[in-house]
Amino acid sequence: MLADIVLATKRLDLRKIGEDQVDLHWKYLNSEAVMERLGGPRTREELAKKHAKARASFASDGFGFMFGYERSTGEMVTHCGMKRVDNPLAANQGDHEIGWLVREDRWRMGYAEESMRAVIDWAFEEHGAPHLVALTSPHNIGSWKLMEKLGMERRPDLDFEDPGFPAQDRQTIQYSITRDQWENSQCNAPA
Ligand SMILES: CC(C)(COP(=O)(O)OP(=O)(O)OC[C@H]1O[C@@H](n2cnc3c(N)ncnc32)[C@H](O)[C@@H]1OP(=O)(O)O)[C@@H](O)C(=O)NCCC(=O)NCCS
Repeated sequence: MLADIVLATKRLDLRKIGEDQVDLHWKYLNSEAVMERLGGPRTREELAKKHAKARASFASDGFGFMFGYERSTGEMVTHCGMKRVDNPLAANQGDHEIGWLVREDRWRMGYAEESMRAVIDWAFEEHGAPHLVALTSPHNIGSWKLMEKLGMERRPDLDFEDPGFPAQDRQTIQYSITRDQWENSQCNAPA
């Protein structure tokens, strides 16, 4: 059964992750291509743990990671949302962290940008976030280009090495956007 809709965009419904959606995640998002720069595909147990963490985050903070469903087909196409920075190696524990994955047969259709603009508005309008961060690696070019397109700026002061990733993706880089930067981007948006 589909869980509650949290956010709706032009083409997507972002919903909480239900108890029984590990198979869905496995089928559409746990591929070599999607997980290439993220340490490779996960086990079912790891996915179940991630989902439980997302539900716990909604229960404690009112936000978390979700699945995005393409309204025209009903298919799940993205996994995205917001959580607290909890990597023990990061200096900015507890910051609001946004993140995203898109199923590879839907890349370059604007789904990551569309869902993340809705998540960013939600973070500032409804969750009182003072600023948001996003984490990636220098080799994950699509990801940091998206951060730049979303108006985020590079934060070398927050970089760290994460030995939990393969050598080429150990360097973790961060981007951020402040409430002021977001508000200014709203004023300058085309009517
Ligand atoms: C990164 C990712 C989420 C982008 O999703 P997407 O839906 O294809 O992205 P969009 O179509 O919304 O693209 C928005 C912008 O992101 C950037 N971008 C996305 N993919 C890119 C790529 N392969 N190369 C360069 N820039 C890219 C571009 O700036 C693009 O704007 P443009 O189309 O006007 O050039 C997707 O490639 C993905 O899931 N990758 C694997 C998972 C992952 O690494 N997630 C990030 C974790 S930090």
